Amino acid sequence: MAKLCFPKCRLGKMMCWLQIVLGGLVVIISISSIIGFYSAGFFFRNEDICRQFYGVKDVYDGFDIQALTERVGEVLDRMDILQEKLESKVKQMEKEKEDSGTITRLEYKKYLKEEVIRPLYNAHMALRQIRLPKAEGIRNSTMKEEPLINNFVIEEIRKYITPKENRLGKMNIYGSERIYNTIGHACVAFKKDLEDYMDYDIGSYCNDDWNLAQRLMVNGCDPLPRRRCLTRASKLYQKPYPINESLWRLPDGRNVRWSNYKCRNFECLASKNPKRGYSKCSGCFEMENEKLKWVTNSSLAVDFTIKDVLAIKPGEIRIGLDFGVGTGTFAARMTELNITIVSTALNLGAPFNEIIALRGLIPLYITLNQRLPFFDNTMDLIHTAGFMDGWIDLQLMEFILYDWDRILRPGGLLWIDRFFCKRKDQDDYMYMFLQFRYKKHKWVTASKSSDEIYFSALLEKPPRGV
Ligand SMILES: *[C@@H]1O[C@H](CO)[C@@H](O)[C@H](O)[C@H]1NC(C)=O
Ligand SMILES: *[C@@H]1O[C@H](CO)[C@@H](O)[C@H](O)[C@H]1NC(C)=O
Ligand SMILES: *[C@@H]1O[C@H](CO)[C@@H](O)[C@H](O)[C@H]1NC(C)=O
Ligand SMILES: *[C@@H]1O[C@H](CO)[C@@H](O)[C@H](O)[C@H]1NC(C)=O
Repeated sequence: MAKLCFPKCRLGKMMCWLQIVLGGLVVIISISSIIGFYSAGFFFRNEDICRQFYGVKDVYDGFDIQALTERVGEVLDRMDILQEKLESKVKQMEKEKEDSGTITRLEYKKYLKEEVIRPLYNAHMALRQIRLPKAEGIRNSTMKEEPLINNFVIEEIRKYITPKENRLGKMNIYGSERIYNTIGHACVAFKKDLEDYMDYDIGSYCNDDWNLAQRLMVNGCDPLPRRRCLTRASKLYQKPYPINESLWRLPDGRNVRWSNYKCRNFECLASKNPKRGYSKCSGCFEMENEKLKWVTNSSLAVDFTIKDVLAIKPGEIRIGLDFGVGTGTFAARMTELNITIVSTALNLGAPFNEIIALRGLIPLYITLNQRLPFFDNTMDLIHTAGFMDGWIDLQLMEFILYDWDRILRPGGLLWIDRFFCKRKDQDDYMYMFLQFRYKKHKWVTASKSSDEIYFSALLEKPPRGV
């Protein structure tokens, strides 16, 4: 009997031993790296000071023990699966020993490769990915390993947020030793979505997932990481219309990827279509209506014309920001007056960024979560319409207004256009604007409905030479 099954029994035993040895190896590696971490944490720090203040707990300082636990758990699970697989294989081989012939070298090799080495490699890599904090900073810096890294398993995210050393050990143009790619910290709360977003093949086409990206941004995962994949374009991209036509003409629908919108062309976005898929600024995609804005006299006193506003500062207004939801009409009118306006835009159910760009204007793709990417005291004008209104939290609004104040130059104009809120909230919101002590060029309220009011103002930032 022993003689009969000799080759396979030997194989079975070999498998057993191999499994035990390799399993032991991984366990030793993991234990030694954990011990390494503890001892590094313990011996390299300035114990006298730290112990006094923080006690033993401080051993964990700067290191994500939670992530370590999860990762080790993951590896242990993989080892379990591998062991079960190998055991059942051995059993199966023993059962089959009578009726089948000997196993060939090739099969044996293949089996080892696929069933043993690969899972073992994966388990090994998962352990390797745990980055232990360096006891000392790198070169002149005392900065330790970014603790957030251990929260993520998708390698592309880990690579992204790892600080990038300058080559040749030089200082870069920012005067720093490395570049710190950031992701908004709220990304951690949307780990699954972020992992989907970063799960792609480097160099190939990205998924058609801008809406996933925008959802992450809106939820505070902002700024998003860059990606190393190629963005898809529309099937038949046509060259845009020349600027003398593009400003007031609905663009060619073929220049938009429609797959993530309810509509499939620009005509479908008209306000009378109940299935247009967006609600803010309905009617924005009808150029006939848009042409009337800010140029024709309105029956409402809260509507100022561009002509009247610019007459306050003749020749002084050259660059500005239009903060709102729209298709760029304000910027288009200003372009005709040789004034450059950047329009904020989010694709909330309709291709707002696309239409602004196709009209030959500049869309700025940002959310309310972010500090504006402009330097202090630089803008001549900020115009805001249709975005901030009675829903907004007062403190949030205060942060936003202070940021606007930051970028507006002394003598620059803040044009609040048809802000609206409940009548009872009027005083609170008015205070938000009044606290900056801007010069009031215009200040108008009008009734919107029985319990709501409209409010428009044209305010000038005073000099701040302090
Ligand atoms: C590190 O610091 C030393 C002096 O403290 C300085 O001479 C050197 O230029 C610094 N190196 C870098 C890369 O900052
Ligand atoms: C726009 O300008 C081009 C030349 O720059 C001209 O050929 C074309 O007729 C103009 N279009 C309109 C509508 O004025
Ligand atoms: C708008 O009203 C002003 C006076 O309030 C007048 O001078 C101007 O011609 C009017 N413009 C239009 C387009 O009706
Ligand atoms: C805009 O600039 C162009 C070229 O400098 C000039 O011909 C045109 O008159 C300007 N338009 C206005 C409204 O100032």
